[in-house]
Amino acid sequence: MQYILDTADVNFIKKALDLYPIEGVTTNPSIISKEKGDFKTIIKEIRNIIGEDLMLHVQCLSLNAETMVKEALYIQELAGKNVYVKIPVIPEGIKAIKILKQKNIKTTATAIFTAQQALMAAIAGATYVAPYIDRIDNISGDGPKVVSEIVQLFNINNLSTKVLAASFKNVEQVHKVCLAGAHSVTVNKDLFEKLIYHPYTDLSIEGFIRDWEGVYGKGKTTLDS
Ligand code: E4P
Repeated sequence: MQYILDTADVNFIKKALDLYPIEGVTTNPSIISKEKGDFKTIIKEIRNIIGEDLMLHVQCLSLNAETMVKEALYIQELAGKNVYVKIPVIPEGIKAIKILKQKNIKTTATAIFTAQQALMAAIAGATYVAPYIDRIDNISGDGPKVVSEIVQLFNINNLSTKVLAASFKNVEQVHKVCLAGAHSVTVNKDLFEKLIYHPYTDLSIEGFIRDWEGVYGKGKTTLDS
């Protein structure tokens, strides 16, 4: 399982990288727009923070394959090594994925709502497919079920494309797609820290410290023994 940050907030990226086993950052046009800064500066800043080894997923905006390919080349130049160009799964997007595969440019097929969209993108050559869990759930679909079907189809067809589940609003959605076999999850900054939060964990720690300090003194740790 790969944990990825779904944000362009550089302060949060710095903080999360320090604490958690993060494998990359995903952005989309809405996420970038939220920062209200210059696109190139934001992407370069994220790359500087995460270094060359982590993945950076950046989305193109055009709607025809030819321009998508141009955007992909531009994004690759801008975002350096380990970049994944996000391409929506419209017909021209599938065409762009095929062309980019031939050019050895890695792609993440995005805005996926059905398993057939994911299968088509994977056969076209996408490195990742990104099903939108919360958006699927909100139209009375079943996000984790879509992930499970995608994983099944990739196995049946011997496809090496990975599932990067996206669009989460609660921890249960993340948990369910992990169980459904997703290879990666990209989680926004409001949700990320909730993934490991539990009030009883904090309560347990308070108890340990209280017991220890009662005998060995306030602020003491094992280092003071
Ligand atoms: C990935 O970057 C996706 O675009 C993103 O997770 C979508 O999330 P949203 O549905 O919360 O906008």
